Order: sequence, then C-alpha cells, then structure tokens
Amino acid sequence: MKPGDTLTVMAESLSKHGDGVGVYEGVEIHVAGLLPGETGDVAIDYVSKQRPRAHAQVLVRRNTHPGRRPAPCRHHGRCNGCALMDMDLPSQRELKRVELERTWGIMIDRLVYDDREGRGYRFSSKRVFSGSPGRIKLGSYMRGTHNVADMQGCLVDHPDIADCADELAEVTSELRCVPYDETDGGGDLRYAWFKTDGHGQVVLAIITAEPCHSAVFDIAARLQRPAGIAWGSNGGTGNDMRATTLRPLRGRQTVEIDFGDLTAHFGPLGFLQPNPHIAAVAYHDLVRVPAGGALHGRTALDLYAGAGVTTRLLRRSFTHVGACESFPESARALGCEPMLVEEFLARLLSDPHHLHRNPELVVANPPRGGLGQTVCDQLNELAAPRLHLMSCSPASLVEDLRRLTGADGRYRAIGARAFDTLPQTNHVEVVVWLVGRSD
Ligand SMILES: C[S@@+](CC[C@H](N)C(=O)[O-])C[C@H]1O[C@@H](n2cnc3c(N)ncnc32)[C@H](O)[C@@H]1O
Repeated sequence: MKPGDTLTVMAESLSKHGDGVGVYEGVEIHVAGLLPGETGDVAIDYVSKQRPRAHAQVLVRRNTHPGRRPAPCRHHGRCNGCALMDMDLPSQRELKRVELERTWGIMIDRLVYDDREGRGYRFSSKRVFSGSPGRIKLGSYMRGTHNVADMQGCLVDHPDIADCADELAEVTSELRCVPYDETDGGGDLRYAWFKTDGHGQVVLAIITAEPCHSAVFDIAARLQRPAGIAWGSNGGTGNDMRATTLRPLRGRQTVEIDFGDLTAHFGPLGFLQPNPHIAAVAYHDLVRVPAGGALHGRTALDLYAGAGVTTRLLRRSFTHVGACESFPESARALGCEPMLVEEFLARLLSDPHHLHRNPELVVANPPRGGLGQTVCDQLNELAAPRLHLMSCSPASLVEDLRRLTGADGRYRAIGARAFDTLPQTNHVEVVVWLVGRSD
C-alpha cells in the first residue's frame, strides 16, 4: 500500500480523532469523513512505517449513515474540535455507547446526556491567537499542525464566551497586536482562556510569549465584556497552553459555577469540566454507589481534585477528606499544598498512623493519560474497600482497569456509566465503580 492508492473500505469504528476506521488486508485505514457503518472509495494519503496503519480521504461514499446530516458549523472540516458534527445527536450517543462496549469492552448501564441541542454548552474554552496585525483570529490548532482554524461563532462554546472571543479578536485587530509565530518564536499574543458562569460573567486569561513588553495592558483597557482579565506568559515550545504565573489585570479572578446543589469557584487556568450541567450529574454519581445511595464514613480521598467539587461533596458525608491536586491555582482553592498524587500516596503508604491511611472510599479523576502504573500499584497497596474512577479517556481507563482488576489488582468493577459532557465531539466521560477484592 502506498500514497495515491485507491481502495474500498468500510469504517467499523471511530479513531480518537473521530475518523472512521476500517481494516484492509490487515492494515488499519483511518478515513476522515467516513462514519462507522459507511463504505467508501478512498485515496491513501499516508502509510505509517511503524505500524500497520494508513490515513486516507474519501473519494466516493457508497452508502450513508442514517444519522448523517450537514454539519451545522461552518468551520467543520478545518476546525477539528467537533468530530461528530456530521451526525445527529441520537446517532452520536448511540455511537459513543457502541464504541465504549465494542472497542474498549466497557459495559455501561446508561449514557447520561442533556436533552438540549448540544450547543452553547462549553463554560470553558481555550483559543489560539493567529492571523496578522489588523486581522487577528482566535481558533484552534488543526490536527497535527500549528496551523490555526478560525472558531469565530463556535456553536459549542457558551454564547458569553463566543461574544468575548469576538470582542477580543476585534480589539486586538484594532490595536494591530502581533500574534505569536510558532515557526520563528516571534510575536506577542499566544492563547486566550475563557471561563463563564453562564450568566454573563466571563474571566479571561491572555497568555503571551514574553513576560513583559506586551500589548495586554492596552487590550485590557479596551475590552468591555470580560468581568475579569488576567495575564500570564508561556515561552515554551510544547503544546502546553497554560502559563506558569498569572497576574490579575483587572476585575474578578474567579467565576462561580453551579453544580446542582453546590457552587464552586474557578480561577482563570484551573481545570473546569467544560459542561457543568452534565459534569454535576457525574460528580454526584461518582461519590455514591451505582444505584444512587449515599456513602458515609470516616475517611475518603479525592485524588486529582481540581478545584474541589467532589471534595466538597465528600465532606458532606465523610469526617476526613484528603484531597490531592498538583496545579497550584486549584490546590490553593482547595486549601492544600500542590502535590502529585504519586507523592501524596507514597507519604500515606509509608505512615501507618497517617490520618488518611485507611480510607473507606477513594475517588480519582485523572487527566487524559490516566492513573498509570505507579498510582495503580499504590492504589492496589492501599486496598481501599471502594475506589470510584472518573475518566475522559477510555484508552487509559482500560489500561488502569487491567492494573487494578487483573491478577495483581485488588479490586473488581461493579458498574460503569457514561456521561455525554461534550456533544458533537467523540469524547465521553466514564465513571467506574470498583470494590475491594479479598483474594
Ligand atoms: C481531569 S481533571 C479533574 C479535576 C477535578 N476532579 C474536576 O473534575 O474538576 C485532573 C486534575 O488533575 C490534576 N493533575 C494532573 N496530574 C496530576 C498529578 N500527577 N497529581 C495530582 N494532580 C494532578 C490537574 O491539574 C487537574 O486539575
């Protein structure tokens, strides 16, 4: 197989980027624009030398998925944010359920979703500055490149954020600001982080390449819409869009978000699950048993606690709650020292008299990479009676479950549920309930 070859392939599943994936003579073919169940004549663009994988584009689609629709977003195709925009919402949900079961072997009791139309649900959003002086755009990196796709009028961002992003593009264009150039490291403006409370209050963090000599003061003086603005710098060459330090420029520096019966405060760069409506259901389920009953006890741990929504839920029914979070802004909000989970668990395991040494419940909501071997080993050693995981990556979740429930593991899974926090995308959040095993 080589670039330029054409062949006929049926997509059977979906890649993590939302491409249809079929197999042709033992080679996985990833086809942008083909939905699972669709067959297409495709042209090979690229063949991997490392593994039996190729990438292709559709020439002719031979059949059409019954849920296929014209993508409602005009940026779809260039912006890679919403891989499932070509499908109606019921088909997206069905696909997510099937993918979890068939591709990852994760059997869920249900997929929790919002009845609304899957638009305007993102209460947090990151954008990349691009364009040229006088014509600034705010968008997202196109897959595998540093080219930026415009996101003006993004349909999934909350309208508060879309308005603020429009104003920011307008003001920075008028001021003839210079966007950062990934190729030569020149320029000023790099990223913009937006968070809204959903009621018109937006906090904006502007990240520049340099810690000084920036146009941010002029920009902050001109912007009307954000309730608060902060400034950070990031001179790194990687894909990390955060800044190491943040300086308030004006206004409020947190947004207050409702998660059902509790509210929490989030700073400009701390982790905020983009869809608080559905996340609220997931958080409440995470601290309970699968059937919904509340747990009570003396000690619980909240690992990867973020700004502490689950920590506060746990504090309602446990006397001692040990929370661990490494990002300083979030750890500060929790009232604890920023620490890696690996370090937190190592300290606890080495001290039999530690206040949190024998938790009845451990809740863990790691980032995309999952818990990993070290933390799974530590959790096995801890052998808590209950371990509740929340994951945004089925791939790493499956690896972690193998470590926790396999021959060397100390747990068994008693249930799993999925949450459609990001409609239009192929992402899904999963909660898995585990209990300790005595063998
Ligand atoms: C998926 S978020 C979950 C946050 C929170 N539980 C929530 O739902 O809002 C993962 C969090 O883990 C933190 N984190 C990432 N790696 C970590 C590590 N090794 N130790 C401690 N915290 C970590 C991140 O800063 C982030 O706040």
